[in-house]
Amino acid sequence: MRIRVWRLALALFLAPASFAIPPQQGKTNRVPPPWAYGLKTPLGSPPSDEPIPTPTDKLAVDDGRAISLPGSPVSLTLTQMRNQGILDWYPDDHPKMPEIVAQGRKPDVLACPACHYTNGKGDPANATIEALPYDYFVQTMEDFRTGLRKSADPRKSNTPNMIKYAKAMTDDEIKESAKYYGAIPLISRIEVIESKTVPKTRLVAAGLYFPLPGNETEPLGNRLIEMPETPEAFIYKNPRSNAVVYVPVGSIKKGERLVMDDGDGRTIACIYCHGPDLLGLGRIPGIAGRLPGYVVRQLFDMQNGARTGTWADMMKPVVEKLTIDDMITIAAYLCSRKIGDAQ
Ligand code: HEC
Ligand code: HEC
Repeated sequence: MRIRVWRLALALFLAPASFAIPPQQGKTNRVPPPWAYGLKTPLGSPPSDEPIPTPTDKLAVDDGRAISLPGSPVSLTLTQMRNQGILDWYPDDHPKMPEIVAQGRKPDVLACPACHYTNGKGDPANATIEALPYDYFVQTMEDFRTGLRKSADPRKSNTPNMIKYAKAMTDDEIKESAKYYGAIPLISRIEVIESKTVPKTRLVAAGLYFPLPGNETEPLGNRLIEMPETPEAFIYKNPRSNAVVYVPVGSIKKGERLVMDDGDGRTIACIYCHGPDLLGLGRIPGIAGRLPGYVVRQLFDMQNGARTGTWADMMKPVVEKLTIDDMITIAAYLCSRKIGDAQ
């Protein structure tokens, strides 16, 4: 075991130099894949082509009924939920929230669970932030602050919001949030379906796909599409709900070769740095059980210079040669790994 840890540590520190891959020849991915950024049309298409997303407060109407979730001590009407802002359905599932997490700080910082949920499980439109290593969390917030971490598609409006919060937060507030979310163990709440087709979807303002009523489908093609388990899971911010992910047939198996091996020199096996179980190694974050659209966005952002920085630079030789199809298979495999026991 000692030898194995040593070899991993050595691989980790030598990796960027010793695995250096020559600059990419041929195919490059210049246009961010719109489906991974919660958009319908590629960057550069005329704005009129973009369908107007449904505002989130128009997704449901209050019929006066009190709503609860299985096993939750809380019961609220939709109006009460909206007035309350942050919903803590399962207070026993997480440690006590520091004020900056639970309340944010008006007017500059919105409470984190509004997007990342109380347990950090996140939505396809943002990120899973539970169980992130403390040092990584603090560093990536610093990268948001200093402009080293942006989105390759500037139309993805919630990334600039995240940047705004990081800039407004004090160092202590960042540390408190890193401790809080870092203490929550990762549970993958993802249902993966390999399929040729996907339900027809519409976009909501949060950058999320919702299935259209009426079971109509369309070809999935070379994409992956993820959506909340039910519209209510998103509207009520249910931290125990799953994301449902449609990935191309055969992609999980293909992705395994790139993640566990190097896919015939196309990349560097992720296990060298992200740990043999892909759940992280030291300050390097885990990548198994993470939301797949998020993974594709990060790989694309790192490949195309939207996400840089000392530590992100270690990913340069990893992403250099990857095509969008490779990114899809990698993300499909990573999100198919089951982590922890969901209630
Ligand atoms: C309006 C929604 C929103 C809110 C509220 C929000 N975030 Fe985020 N956060 C995002 C988005 C979007 C991303 C991912 C951007 C991307 O896809 O690249 C993100 C990413 C992150 C990441 C990086 C995750 C990783 O694995 O690198 C951290 C850490 C984070 N947020 C912390 C926080 C904290 C702490 C708070 C509360 C103070 C907060 N966020 C509030 C939208 C939000
Ligand atoms: C040479 C070491 C190394 C290898 C090999 C490596 N990574 Fe990374 N990876 C890192 C480091 C370091 C970071 C943190 C970057 C940062 O701080 O911005 C990272 C970050 C990431 C992130 C962003 C995580 C987040 O929370 O935002 C993803 C996704 C990722 N890697 C995927 C992969 C995949 C997929 C592979 C294999 C194909 C891989 N990595 C191989 C070192 C590596």
